[in-house]
Amino acid sequence: MKRVYFLLAFSAFGWNAYGQKTIDQKVAELLSKMTLEEKVGQMVQYSGFEYATGPQHSNSAAVLEEIKKGKVGSMLNVAGSEETRSFQKLAMQSRLKIPLLFGQDVIHGYRTTFPVNLGQAASWDLGMIEKSERIAATEAAAYGIHWTFAPMVDIARDPRWGRVMEGSGEDTYLGTKIGLARIKGFQGRGLGSLDAVMACAKHFAAYGAAVGGRDYNSVDMSLRQLNETYLPPFKAAAEAGVATFMNSFNDINGIPATANQYIQRDLLKGKWNYKGFVVSDWGSIGEMVPHGYAKDFNEAAERAIQGGSDMDMESRVYMAELPKLVKEGKVDAKLIDDAAGRILTKKFEMGLFDDPYRFSNEKRQKEQTDNQENRKFGREFGAKSIVLLKNQGNILPLSKTTKTVALIGPFGKETVANHGFWSIAFKDDNQRIVSQFDGIKNQLDKNSTLLYAKGCNVDDQDKTQFAEAVETAKKAVVVIMTLGEGHAMSGEAKSRSTIGFTGVQEDLLKEIAKTGKPIILMINAGRPLIFNWAADNIPTIMYTWWLGTEAGNSIADVLFGTVNPGGKLPMSFPRTEGQIPVYYNHYNTGRPAKNNTDRNYVSAYIDLDNDPKYPFGYGLSYTDFKYSDMVLSSASLTGNQALNISVTVSNTGKYDGEEVVQLYIRDLFGKVVRPVKELKGFQKVFIKKGESKKVEFKLTPEDLKFFDDNLNFDWEGGEFDIMIGTNSQNVQTKRISWSK
Ligand code: NOJ
Repeated sequence: MKRVYFLLAFSAFGWNAYGQKTIDQKVAELLSKMTLEEKVGQMVQYSGFEYATGPQHSNSAAVLEEIKKGKVGSMLNVAGSEETRSFQKLAMQSRLKIPLLFGQDVIHGYRTTFPVNLGQAASWDLGMIEKSERIAATEAAAYGIHWTFAPMVDIARDPRWGRVMEGSGEDTYLGTKIGLARIKGFQGRGLGSLDAVMACAKHFAAYGAAVGGRDYNSVDMSLRQLNETYLPPFKAAAEAGVATFMNSFNDINGIPATANQYIQRDLLKGKWNYKGFVVSDWGSIGEMVPHGYAKDFNEAAERAIQGGSDMDMESRVYMAELPKLVKEGKVDAKLIDDAAGRILTKKFEMGLFDDPYRFSNEKRQKEQTDNQENRKFGREFGAKSIVLLKNQGNILPLSKTTKTVALIGPFGKETVANHGFWSIAFKDDNQRIVSQFDGIKNQLDKNSTLLYAKGCNVDDQDKTQFAEAVETAKKAVVVIMTLGEGHAMSGEAKSRSTIGFTGVQEDLLKEIAKTGKPIILMINAGRPLIFNWAADNIPTIMYTWWLGTEAGNSIADVLFGTVNPGGKLPMSFPRTEGQIPVYYNHYNTGRPAKNNTDRNYVSAYIDLDNDPKYPFGYGLSYTDFKYSDMVLSSASLTGNQALNISVTVSNTGKYDGEEVVQLYIRDLFGKVVRPVKELKGFQKVFIKKGESKKVEFKLTPEDLKFFDDNLNFDWEGGEFDIMIGTNSQNVQTKRISWSK
């Protein structure tokens, strides 16, 4: 008992159970010693001298001097044990010796790159996603990095937006689960572990809903939609203890996210009680001037701090303006203490005050430079991210003894391209990346031949290489074509108004098809592309995204059947750009189109079907899965009961395989209209050929909740359709009633 009082007394004064000060206490003490400029200094982040993702103000000599004066809290794009150590040494020359935080865009791997994030999402494998971030964190931390600007948890329904590649697609439920897995992976055993980096939920908020899919563009939507569709992954991230948030370039209903009090103060730091800190996006504080929300940088700084932005990434506005604003009484000094305090707290949690160099360790860096175990995992993960769209006539899997195989297309011998966008740790060491050609060649029987022809470039009109490609195809038994969009055509600032294969690639495909040879088409992209001619005319299509360091091996594993593909699309694939946005969980409207033929005075296009070319959740396997015996524990429930749902899935084909079993619901009537389907659960199950598995789900009223027009989050009694199936279109349905 005495011990309890003793402990309570200690903690009341900010000491922990062992008589040491708590972090709160240490932060308060430190703040009390700091000048206003030093506090604002903590809120300043500059970029190192590479990898700008926006206009750079780089004056390296001046930046180094400012670090020595304690006027910089964090650097991004400074990496490597040596480089981080040398920057940290400068910070140690400052009056209070406050260490720097080093941030970096570790987006889909670091030294070992994994599939682009949208490709990873197609694996629907939360365990693997978490593990990939664990590896990324271990590698990045070994390079002196403390903080990654990931995960991007923006829901995105518009594939013209290049950054769909960085997210988890169109669905809030799937996106939330994946976001949580990533945070767990990055932060590992917790901040302070030498293999953990601080994660950052970005871009807060609704950046993925930019009008027209044009990057950085405005967002205009109801608060209901914002709360229901776009914010849940962020709320879940905050609850899971993500260390930081990054806000976004866009305005939301006229107020830039960077200064958005509703988003950052009322919700994040208010209702959600978030204790981490918020970094602006690159230059987004200063950009409130061209937005027309602040007349100059002075006003931009004021609005950003009032709006809850704690750290200024590269606007160079906070240091120039905030001290003045505080002295003039326009900004409350408490806001500065709060922001600087949040940042210092993370530095303490990372153990940087105990040893500012603890992440800058040459030995660990060496161990993680080319880690074979990590590559092995990357290979498996790559294969799990591939989505088989079509396998007419079961051309796949291909026999390794196929006599002559031709690989044709601009990506066949590419190395760097396989990283996709954001492969920041790579620079020029191309030799580490397995090309598609090498991956296939290594697995083909030694008595077989792999021919190659580039056929065309990624994005020009030159057809001079067609003839050689056609001749090559004619010599082969089967042709593998590798087409798509350039690897840097999706990502930041990579919006496209047309999203087909670039250049003359489709013409090349048509020429090769004329040879009559069986074609396996591999599509390389960071976003859903539109490829109707290929979809309708080519028998075998796999969507390979950009798979990272081990791309060639992952692809060959699937081509030759070592791995049976089980990926499912995390976004609907449109038929034409005019159909965008097309997403599975839309409302029904008052005039729903019943089918694709009767288009008269219903919500339809007169010239196009409503459904996508490939639906959300779609993906084939080399084997066949049959769904049967869908059983619900009750058809009529009351109050806080739970509904148990089961279904039997049988592998009736010739190969062992994995299936993602998907559970959707529809709330038939509501205070506000409800989507025609909402994903509420999924399970990835491995089933041996000839075997069956019973797959079980459970729903509670919590799963039925939604935001009404007054932003109340609750459920209503009524009728619900419960749907289980292999994708969002192909489901079995049972109706229940559930009263409150
Ligand atoms: C701008 C991007 O929007 C953001 O996601 C990224 O983290 C920063 N640049 C830093 O590179």
